[in-house]
Amino acid sequence: MEVSLFLILILQSILIFCEAEVGKSHQICKKLQYDPVKQPYRTAFHFQPPKNWMNDPNGPMYYKGIYHLFYQYNPYSAIWGNISWGHSISYNLVDWIDIELAISPIESYDINGCWSGSATILAEGNPAILYTGSDFKNRQVQNLAMPKNVLDPYLREWIKSDHNPLMAPIGVDPQFFRDPTTAWQGPDKKWRVVVGSQINGHGTALLYQSDDFVKWTRSDRPLHFSNKTGMWECPDFYPVSVDGVNGLDTSVQGKNVKHVLKASFNDHDYYIIGIYEPETDRFSVSPDFMDSNVQLRYDYGIFYASKTFYDSAKSRRILWAWVTEADGKSDDVDKGWSGLQSIPRSILLDKTGKQLSQWPIEEIEKLRAKEVNLENKVVEGGTTFEIAGITSSQADVEVSFVLPNLHDAELLPPGLLDPQLLCSKRNASTEGVIGPFGLLVLASKDLIEHTAVFFRVFKGHGNFVVLMCSDQSRSSLREEVDKSSFGAFVDVDPTDKISLRSLIDHSIIESFGGEGKTCITARVYPKLAIDKESRLYVFNNGTESITIANLSAWSMKGAQIFPLHKRRKPQLD
Ligand SMILES: *[C@@H]1O[C@H](CO)[C@@H](O)[C@H](O)[C@H]1NC(C)=O
Ligand SMILES: *[C@@H]1O[C@H](CO)[C@@H](O)[C@H](O)[C@H]1NC(C)=O
Ligand SMILES: *[C@@H]1O[C@H](CO)[C@@H](O)[C@H](O)[C@H]1NC(C)=O
Ligand SMILES: *[C@@H]1O[C@H](CO)[C@@H](O)[C@H](O)[C@H]1NC(C)=O
Ligand SMILES: *[C@@H]1O[C@H](CO)[C@@H](O)[C@H](O)[C@H]1NC(C)=O
Repeated sequence: MEVSLFLILILQSILIFCEAEVGKSHQICKKLQYDPVKQPYRTAFHFQPPKNWMNDPNGPMYYKGIYHLFYQYNPYSAIWGNISWGHSISYNLVDWIDIELAISPIESYDINGCWSGSATILAEGNPAILYTGSDFKNRQVQNLAMPKNVLDPYLREWIKSDHNPLMAPIGVDPQFFRDPTTAWQGPDKKWRVVVGSQINGHGTALLYQSDDFVKWTRSDRPLHFSNKTGMWECPDFYPVSVDGVNGLDTSVQGKNVKHVLKASFNDHDYYIIGIYEPETDRFSVSPDFMDSNVQLRYDYGIFYASKTFYDSAKSRRILWAWVTEADGKSDDVDKGWSGLQSIPRSILLDKTGKQLSQWPIEEIEKLRAKEVNLENKVVEGGTTFEIAGITSSQADVEVSFVLPNLHDAELLPPGLLDPQLLCSKRNASTEGVIGPFGLLVLASKDLIEHTAVFFRVFKGHGNFVVLMCSDQSRSSLREEVDKSSFGAFVDVDPTDKISLRSLIDHSIIESFGGEGKTCITARVYPKLAIDKESRLYVFNNGTESITIANLSAWSMKGAQIFPLHKRRKPQLD
């Protein structure tokens, strides 16, 4: 106890030291970070480990005043392999301290990898982790780990249960049995947990129940399955409030509550919203996965294997996701690292009840520094202008557009109902009527390189349709990077206003359209538009003028994300 307290004091004072004396101690803090010239794609305020490969976020939780983030991590290199659980802690979800590995692949039931899983705060307040092990026969099994000392708020050491594996792939293909969710308790006090699977080729959320968190029995009926998808990875299942502004703890059930089931497949995180009856464990939804043309996704760009947790300190549900690289494997080896975590997002049921909405956690705003503003500025069709005065490679931009004249909006092109396809067929340089208009980010001075985040408005069947795109086609002169465009519709009324927020961080752009109704995350690797050479513009390539009601752009300070401890290597025997 005393040792922990002492450590907290030391770590806190180091954080304060770096924050308070940015001028004087710049060198000291900076030494622990990467050189921006040699490492132009290293981020400043997104979570990434000091080096090496990272993928899925695991077991996020809030415990004794501290946020914990675990993550799929290769302690040896920048490519996937030897998967262990990295572990970092934070007081504010912005600045992170890297601590020793929490779980390493050393037992027969996880020797080929300690894969994804979730944390549950048990009834007496102690945390428990359920994770997938790839065992000595490469079978997927579910295991339990508990803190060695629950009085240590850092939860530095984890003990694997003597009863592992707790769930074996009996009657399930051992290659398709992974990623246990956070558990929830029904009115009968039994714990329930979902494990991702596929049965007869169909994505399935297997349901398990337990009285003691150790002995688990599979229910005859899965919580949900789909004949229209394959394997479900990283399922997530949680309640959302129908009319409240707060997130809900995972075991909350009852009136004014709906449930969200998220599954990761086809490189995206899809979700459905329905009604869960804890007495029967029935989950009824409409529409289901793949039922309609337009599928609900957390994010329509690069965003996968996400996981939410309930933050009891601020009564909110927070979403994390893995944002992978879009350059090559050899680039990862050269960089010495691969993979980012998204900025944590608060997630709520949207007022329409038809979808979720997401917003970067408020804590990130503490990094906002120098600000520039614009109000009521008309942007004529065919014009582009620069927003100068901030560090455009590391910025937060919020803008709202008002569209004076929707009369002449184009008809939604028949046969182009897939928004992603629409964005790639009609890129930022394809002239329209209402749009394309939006931001050009991570742009070079001559605009040879830029990423366009923009909107177009079409006439649909008796309504207007708003399309949001993130067009990477001109993001980099480098040939070998993936420059696919991303797109989605935004369920907003364009006769009101259309808002956009973009968080820009060297090689990642997280964009939130319509106050977080539609999110698109892109990875870009400019050659020219790096660091101080990076610029920000507003453009309108529609024929109709639009008005910027309000634009605020901030330089962002770097978060303090660096290692203080040497990592302990797992013992491979
Ligand atoms: C995994 O670890 C072993 C032992 O340290 C090492 O030889 C191997 O290269 C590693 N594999 C990867 C992909 O990092
Ligand atoms: C889905 O697949 C299962 C198993 O193959 C089958 O029994 C069921 O009828 C199918 N349901 C639908 C709606 O197609
Ligand atoms: C806007 O259109 C002009 C003329 O076609 C083109 O040169 C320019 O690149 C376009 N802007 C963007 C951001 O694509
Ligand atoms: C943008 O789309 C136009 C067709 O409208 C196409 O000619 C052009 O090559 C595209 N630009 C890029 C950079 O893909
Ligand atoms: C413009 O946006 C900033 C930042 O979001 C806000 O503080 C300000 O009140 C807004 N101004 C108007 C006129 O909406």
